[in-house]
Amino acid sequence: MIIIKTGLAIDYIRESSRIVAETLAMLKLKVTAGVTTEELDKMAEDYILSRGGYPAFKGYPQGSDNPYPATLCCSVNEEVVHGIPGDRKLLEGDIISIDVGVVKNNYFGDGATTIAVGEISEEKKRLMKVTEESLYLGIAQALDNNRVQDISAAVQEHVEKNGFSIVRDLCGHGVGKKLHEAPSIPNFGRKGNGPKLKTGMTLAIEPMVNTGVYQVKTKRDGWTVVTRDGLASAHFEHTILVNENKPEILTVC
Ligand code: MF3
Ligand code: CO
Repeated sequence: MIIIKTGLAIDYIRESSRIVAETLAMLKLKVTAGVTTEELDKMAEDYILSRGGYPAFKGYPQGSDNPYPATLCCSVNEEVVHGIPGDRKLLEGDIISIDVGVVKNNYFGDGATTIAVGEISEEKKRLMKVTEESLYLGIAQALDNNRVQDISAAVQEHVEKNGFSIVRDLCGHGVGKKLHEAPSIPNFGRKGNGPKLKTGMTLAIEPMVNTGVYQVKTKRDGWTVVTRDGLASAHFEHTILVNENKPEILTVC
């Protein structure tokens, strides 16, 4: 069942999402060669707590024997998503995808961005640009009476037209009182298919785009997803509210 949000629920998701956006904006200023991903993680956690929120990924999923251990997912170069922060120092030429979730007032917000470390290759620049564009094209489809795969198809078409590939094993999702709610939002599909979208649905749309093949694998830590061919990957994500005319992006500050 896809939950329709109204009133206070939307206000709370908006508030958590704003903290997500503020955290990412703060981190953008901190990403530089020599910083470690665990230093970024600490700054993010301190910031979220100072805003009265709690890091949503930490300890997720509840009751698991390998819960996610950190505030951020920091995925560098060939890492696609769910990279665990550690003592790895960022190097000039890297790209880092940072994903963050916040829960406050029992409602969640979820967002991600990919950031260049200093000067990066033309190919990585294009990968980042196409991935972000595909996110906005997907968001533009999040309209009352459209279908979930209208989002998926818009993302896939833009990515493949530009010679990159879209990850299939991971999807966007509804977001609200839980981090992951129905519907699942694949980044590939056929226009007109999937559940109908309605005003008041809150969705996390999150294309993961690879330079080379779309296939991925998970490392032995049980979390870090990497590209099979070792080529770079980018990830952008917004939490949005479905509307009649124009979706509202909630992960903004
Ligand atoms: N935005 C990602 C997702 O929706 C991050 C999840 S990390 C996890 O899947 F630790 F919470 F799983
Ligand atoms: Co998400």
